Amino acid sequence: MPSPLKNHWDEKYASTPLTQLGWYEAQPQPSIQLIENCAIPRQATIIDIGSGASTLISRLLELGYQNLYALDISPIALEKAKTSLGTEQAARIHWLEEDITQPSAILQIPNIAIWHDRAVFHFLTENHEREIYREILQKNIKPGGFIILAAFALNGATKCSGLPVQRYSAQSLCEFLGAGFTLLESLDFTYQMPSGDLRPYVYTRFQKG
Ligand SMILES: C[S@@+](CC[C@H](N)C(=O)[O-])C[C@H]1O[C@@H](n2cnc3c(N)ncnc32)[C@H](O)[C@@H]1O
Repeated sequence: MPSPLKNHWDEKYASTPLTQLGWYEAQPQPSIQLIENCAIPRQATIIDIGSGASTLISRLLELGYQNLYALDISPIALEKAKTSLGTEQAARIHWLEEDITQPSAILQIPNIAIWHDRAVFHFLTENHEREIYREILQKNIKPGGFIILAAFALNGATKCSGLPVQRYSAQSLCEFLGAGFTLLESLDFTYQMPSGDLRPYVYTRFQKG
């Protein structure tokens, strides 16, 4: 069934050079720092939710991580990500084309050690969508596993890519995740878009159990 959300993102990725996307990062430094702080074995499973054509996967390969999943609703984004990586590197990644609010393949991934989400969770503006998201975290993150969530901060923009977003603080993300997840660290980070506009984010790192 055609999905307006999928079409929205496909059109965005089809019409915009990757380096001009309003969320493009040449170096996803805060994400890398938080992932490295988890100190997991290089063979452990990391999944990037709504990875788009982000440079994160390429940086993680460079750092030696071996079990990487990239999930996105947009097949065009995933194709662009594969092209950027090149055939050999792309073949080392598990690619999932999926809407995170209609999970299927992701439910088959056991023992996720790190769940990374930059600028995707904040698009879930409906309670039932966030509930589905939390259920996946509860079921598929391994005990002791980590969740890295980066979302627009409370003083951030109200829209991203033309879509409304829910803004967060470390405290409100704690409240969303509930008692089963412990906040280990959080940081404020102001991202500069290719246009020069600034977008304040909150980055958080949680541990399950
Ligand atoms: C603002 S971009 C961020 C991309 C990437 N995380 C980054 O930091 O560069 C949001 C991404 O989430 C994807 N996305 C949006 N809603 C989604 C959903 N419900 N399920 C899966 N992916 C989604 C989009 O296709 C897009 O690639």
